[in-house]
Amino acid sequence: EIFKNSAEASVIVAREIAQLIQAKQAKNKPCVLGLATGSSPIKVYEELVRMHKEEGLSFSNVVTFNLDEYYPMSKENNQSYFYFMHQHLFNHIDIDPENVNIPDGTVPFEDLNQYCIDYEMKIKNAGGLDFQLLGIGRTGHVGFNEPGSHINSGTRIITLDHITRVDASFDFNGIDFVPKRAVTMGVSTILRSKRIVLMAWGQNKAEIIKRTIQGEISSEIPATFLQNHSNTTFVLDQSAASEL
Ligand code: GLP
Repeated sequence: EIFKNSAEASVIVAREIAQLIQAKQAKNKPCVLGLATGSSPIKVYEELVRMHKEEGLSFSNVVTFNLDEYYPMSKENNQSYFYFMHQHLFNHIDIDPENVNIPDGTVPFEDLNQYCIDYEMKIKNAGGLDFQLLGIGRTGHVGFNEPGSHINSGTRIITLDHITRVDASFDFNGIDFVPKRAVTMGVSTILRSKRIVLMAWGQNKAEIIKRTIQGEISSEIPATFLQNHSNTTFVLDQSAASEL
């Protein structure tokens, strides 16, 4: 779906999420959301906060699982995805903090394997993801599933691609300060979501969007695995769609 601009598109995506939350509320059920960071989802979170404040949208039945976190990374660090999510969403809504799950960048290295297995299990025990929001990196990563990620991969620690670290270097005031690794949900974790919306804005995403949607499915561009998911929508602005 191609929209005139990201503001219009984000409102549509936020509305879909709000409707899902309310439909689950009506059935007294939890709504399990997979959430993303980066600049792409910011306006979606803004709109959800607005709906909470102005229209009484409640998040009391919402359980969230974030895609990824840099490793190592403290929660207080304002580059952390923990910080990002609280700043843009969680601090402004009525979600139960117990229902917020973000990969923990402070887990000791030797405990990470078990931590990742437990993260997967927690998603499963919550009933699986009802909705997964995604951005896309210029490498074709979703979450931090960089080129080479297997379709069956689960939550794990990965090494960031050089291009990803270059793209993050502005936020970290230089590439030397960008962590080399991250914890991310896997490709299979994402593909098990009942519904997926991937958002991309701007000209610098146009090439990877073309390769993701029209290229052959390959772990070289992990986002291409979405082609086989039966309920995925790519939500684009005109610039991101300009090479399709
Ligand atoms: C980071 C995140 C991804 C995100 C990507 C794109 O690498 N781990 O989940 O999709 O950046 O970021 P942006 O939305 O800022 O373009």
